[in-house]
Amino acid sequence: MSNKPIVIGVAGGTGSGKTTVAKEIFYQFNEQSIVLIEQDAYYKDQSQLSLEERLQTNYDHPLAFDNDLLLEHLKKLSSKQGIQKPVYDYAAHTRSKEVIDIKPKDVIILEGILILEDKRLRDMMDIKLFVDADADIRIIRRLVRDISERGRSIESVIDQYTSVVRPMHLQFIEPTKRYADVIIPEGGQNRVAIDLMVTKIRTIIEEKAIL
Ligand code: C5P
Repeated sequence: MSNKPIVIGVAGGTGSGKTTVAKEIFYQFNEQSIVLIEQDAYYKDQSQLSLEERLQTNYDHPLAFDNDLLLEHLKKLSSKQGIQKPVYDYAAHTRSKEVIDIKPKDVIILEGILILEDKRLRDMMDIKLFVDADADIRIIRRLVRDISERGRSIESVIDQYTSVVRPMHLQFIEPTKRYADVIIPEGGQNRVAIDLMVTKIRTIIEEKAIL
């Protein structure tokens, strides 16, 4: 196997199904050879701010992410060094004190709303995917998820969506579609696209192995 891992970027708006696509690809490989890195884990540490201040943060803006750290970690994994992946706490709106030890692997799946927005991250990727879904489907999924998993109320999700998530999606996320090699409609339900991706990744692994 040649030294550098393959990096697959899975972008898309909130509720698009990108996490499902990333996980479906992940499960097709042996856990020893693949790792999933979520851009959300690299939201900036805001532990120095009060909860009130953290609630004011725009989490859909490129500046909300610590892409410098994410890039540093991708480079480390690329040079076969381990990393300590941060863990994000959505209820406290900051990085938690835990970290997860990640060993270098042959395949890295990088998943997140704004991974295609930063050229430095794009340049690390071998395949760039954008998972697409209509806005009505995305807000419905977001409502269900944020209430059941992220401790939010209906009112807060709707308010955040209309005032921040939607305008930021249109300004920063949707335009990154142009950088995608493949746009996947109907995300996690799209078996054909997922199977095609898995086949393509296996081909790249085989090609690298004989280089
Ligand atoms: O998993 P998903 O891609 O939906 O995660 C990104 C979303 O998480 C962003 O749209 C952002 O609004 C939301 N977020 C949040 N509160 C935070 C951090 C992120 O609602 N503290």
